Amino acid sequence: MGSEPPLPHVLMISFPGQGHVNPLLRLAKRIAAKGVLITFTTTSDTGHQIISSSDVVPDNEGIPVGSGRLRFEFLDTNWDPSNGQKPDLDDSMRHLEEVGPAAFANLIRKQSHAGRPVTYVINNPFVPWAVDVATDMGIPCAVLWVQSCSVFSTYYHYHHGLAEFPTETNPDMSVSLPGIPTMTPEEIPSFLLPSNPYKSLTKAILEQFYNIDKASKVFVNSFTELEPEAIDAISKYAHLIPVGPLVEPEDESRSTPRGDLIKATDDCLEWLDSQAPKSVIYISLGSIVTFTKEEMAEMAHELTTNGRPFLWVVRPDCRKLLPEGFLEEVKGRGMVVGWSPQDSVLNHGSVGCFLTHCGWNSVLETITAGVPVIAYPQWGDQVTDAKFLVDIYKVGVRLKAPVERDALHTAIEAVMDGPDAETIKEHAGKWKEAAKIAVAKGGSSDCNIQSFVDEVKKMAA
Ligand code: UDX
Repeated sequence: MGSEPPLPHVLMISFPGQGHVNPLLRLAKRIAAKGVLITFTTTSDTGHQIISSSDVVPDNEGIPVGSGRLRFEFLDTNWDPSNGQKPDLDDSMRHLEEVGPAAFANLIRKQSHAGRPVTYVINNPFVPWAVDVATDMGIPCAVLWVQSCSVFSTYYHYHHGLAEFPTETNPDMSVSLPGIPTMTPEEIPSFLLPSNPYKSLTKAILEQFYNIDKASKVFVNSFTELEPEAIDAISKYAHLIPVGPLVEPEDESRSTPRGDLIKATDDCLEWLDSQAPKSVIYISLGSIVTFTKEEMAEMAHELTTNGRPFLWVVRPDCRKLLPEGFLEEVKGRGMVVGWSPQDSVLNHGSVGCFLTHCGWNSVLETITAGVPVIAYPQWGDQVTDAKFLVDIYKVGVRLKAPVERDALHTAIEAVMDGPDAETIKEHAGKWKEAAKIAVAKGGSSDCNIQSFVDEVKKMAA
């Protein structure tokens, strides 16, 4: 009997940020499960964080995932600032742009020398140069858009001057785009407003488009049933292929690295086991957004007096902002962790609602878990995502920033027990079902992933 033919090999490269690594790695697992070898790469410092935060230590051959394998190999692009400070987004992007292309080309060559030539590359749009490197080496490259299709469409229209947006002289205008409900200035991704202070971030976001037309495919972390009109309307300009919601595949979360950049406190799942069904308020603002000290005090006050159990993610960099004595006061009823296994938390039957900053990964995770939300967006796409969660999907209520104790109390009661709570839960249940169907065998996103895998297998045969 001859030996098995080698698996087709897809190399996936992620920008070093939690909101990018998670969807890329989850897509990697879904593709691998269908009989593909995946090598997942990012910068070596972020790669080290992924591996050291995980209980699984992958070797060079990789970890079996379904009928494929998942391996990790990182770019030689160490960030080594003399002051030891974490670089800001601008610095990281500049540094990566300088050293990334050569390191990435090197990694591709290494794969051929090791007898596993790369069949396809998938990047995310914050590393737009990956498309050029792959194309120069004769390898097709797809891109994964990690935010919603509606947000893609909004940025696309802005970047290509296809619609009117607020200006300094007309800051209050609303924006109407095909397939998307009219957005007020508060609902447009905030980087597009004339008042936006993060000019370099806006530049970085719009630069995602400079190479996107060169990609052979644009995958999007969404599903057809969630944004049908937006997907349809933008298809005039860009063919988006929904492959989401990219949540952690249930059977993989223990046997493969989850992608956490901070080690999660898994004990909180045991603590959740001891709580009543749908009783716990879960609070997390993702990997970047922070509460101010005043907001922390308002949160802490309401959580102390409310009486409901809660699980609050306060990242290590924010822990010092917790009011003195708070942890003692809520002992037994509340848990504060530096990082949670969020996907598993949201799928735990004890969680009753999620106070979220509306990062797109958190949005899809809560939709898939059917958990009602208190939407507390801060900037960027989060404000648009909040509009969809509250007005279109109708799975929660909106909380205005900066958070105040009374408004927080009202929001918690509204989603947990208020007159509309049952309707909100019904909507959440409906979306949960739709999300599960999209990624189950034969669902809309699963079929899109399967077509890609079939194509890659043909190419490698
Ligand atoms: C960033 C941007 O801020 C966001 O607007 C954009 O939509 C995606 O990129 P981030 O703010 O980190 O993302 O939020 P989010 O998209 O929600 O991603 C955070 C990820 O970290 C989620 O997958 C979440 O499950 C995970 N997480 C968060 C944990 O695993 N544990 C935690 O304790 C908190």
